[in-house]
Amino acid sequence: MILILLGPPGAGKGTQAKRLEETRGLVQLSTGDMLRAEVAAGSALGRQAKQIMDAGKLVPDEVIIGMIEGRLSQAGAAHGAILDGFPRTVAQAEALDAMLTKLGRRIDHVIELKVDEAALIDRISGRFTCAKCGAGYHDRFKPTAKPGVCDNCAGSEFVRRKDDNPETMKTRLEAYRQQTAPILPYYGARKLVRQVDGMAPVETVAAQIDAVLDGR
Ligand code: AP5
Repeated sequence: MILILLGPPGAGKGTQAKRLEETRGLVQLSTGDMLRAEVAAGSALGRQAKQIMDAGKLVPDEVIIGMIEGRLSQAGAAHGAILDGFPRTVAQAEALDAMLTKLGRRIDHVIELKVDEAALIDRISGRFTCAKCGAGYHDRFKPTAKPGVCDNCAGSEFVRRKDDNPETMKTRLEAYRQQTAPILPYYGARKLVRQVDGMAPVETVAAQIDAVLDGR
C-alpha cells in the first residue's frame, strides 16, 4: 500500500504515520525526519537544507526527489509506505508518479488531515520529542505520564524543533497554502483524496484513517 498523509504543519501526520507503522507494518517515509537526520550528520545536503528549514521554507524539489527515491524503492518492496510530508509541490507529485510507475506501484490513498490554523499553532508550540528514542509528546495534549521521563524508553532528555515557533510557523503555513495545497486538485482529479477531521482526538483521527484504509 502507498498512502500519502497530507496536511499543514502540526496536522498530525507524524503522529498517525507512527501508529500506522505499528499497526499495519507500513514504513513511514518522512522527508522532514530525513532532512533533520542530514542536518544532524552535518552532510552537504544537511548544510544546504538547514537554513531553509529554520526559515520555514521548502527545500528545493530536486534535493527532495533525489533523497526519497532510493528509500521509496526499499519501502515499496515491503508491505508499503506512508508518505509523511512528501510530496509537497506539484513537481514532487509528478516525480512521485514517475518513481511509482518504475516500481510498478500506485498510490492507494491520499488522506488530507483538516485542522484549523489556530489549533496548529497551539500544537506546534507545545510539541517536544524524546532525544533518545524520538517518541513525540505535547505539553498539554500528550504529556509524559511521569514528568520529565519518556513513557517509551525512560529517557530524561527532550528536544524541541527550531522551526516550531509562531514566527516560522507563519512561513510554513504560507508555504503549505501556496505550494502544497495545489496538490489536492492534482490528486482530486484522480478521486484519490479523502478528508479526515484532524481536530478530533488522536484516537478518533486514527479510527477515521482506519476506516478509509479498510474501505469502510
Ligand atoms: P516536516 O518535518 O515534514 O514538518 P511539517 O510538515 O511542518 O509537519 P510537522 O512534523 O510539523 O507536523 P505533523 O503534521 O507531523 O504533526 P505531528 O504529528 O508532529 O518538515 C519540516 C521542514 O522540512 C519543512 O518546513 C521544509 O523546510 C522541509 N521539508 C520537509 N519535507 C519537504 C518536502 N517534501 N519538500 C520541501 N521541503 C520539505 O503533531 C504535532 C503536535 O500535535 C504533536 O505534539 C502531537 O502530539 C500533537 N497532535 C497530533 N495529533 C493531534 C490531535 N489529533 N489532537 C491534539 N494534538 C495532536
